[in-house]
Amino acid sequence: MAARDEHEKVVVARAAAALVEDGTLVALGSGSTVARVAAALGERGSRARFAVASPATEAAAQGAGLTVVDAADHDRYALAIDGADEVAPDGWAIKGGGGAHTRERILIAAADRFLCVVGASKLVPRLTRAVPLELQPFGLAATLAHLPGAVLRDAPPTADGGVLADLPADLTDPRALAARLDATPGVVDHGLFAPELVRELLIADGDAVEHRHR
Ligand code: A5P
Repeated sequence: MAARDEHEKVVVARAAAALVEDGTLVALGSGSTVARVAAALGERGSRARFAVASPATEAAAQGAGLTVVDAADHDRYALAIDGADEVAPDGWAIKGGGGAHTRERILIAAADRFLCVVGASKLVPRLTRAVPLELQPFGLAATLAHLPGAVLRDAPPTADGGVLADLPADLTDPRALAARLDATPGVVDHGLFAPELVRELLIADGDAVEHRHR
């Protein structure tokens, strides 16, 4: 299974890289699939420019010979490419397994298109994972008091100094949960991404790639 997952990351990464046009400004999220997208773009000699969501993606992009720009200087992207941890049939997705979901949402929200790149195993009948959270370190105990059951992640602070945690939660109504988390003081962002954002999926299943528009 792990070998199949790994193969599908490479397959979907190559397919995503083929959709990137030279001269465009593209946002790259974070995670192992995106690292493979960066490598595939490098193999193609891509002449697009890339804003990146994490130091890891920056290293992957630079290692692949891509041109990296500062996200602070750009307000729109032609395309965002990013992975996901789980995607449900209704389009709700959980991201943030790598802890970069705050930056990923900023880039995705600023993109004309978001291409969500996944292996078939990420497609689930319903969301089940604990919801990744980035929390302000200031007042952490008070923030956690609003989030019973949240578990601090054994991980370094995010690139922006945030504290990572995961919240096991009832996911039957992700919109209500997302609204509650959006309204919780001290929550910088959470990993629930709504169907309005997740409209385009590139899915690798073995060697086959499906480009699904929702
Ligand atoms: C990073 O914070 C995440 O949102 C990733 O996009 C997600 O965890 C998928 O990661 P992989 O591509 O490593 O599975």
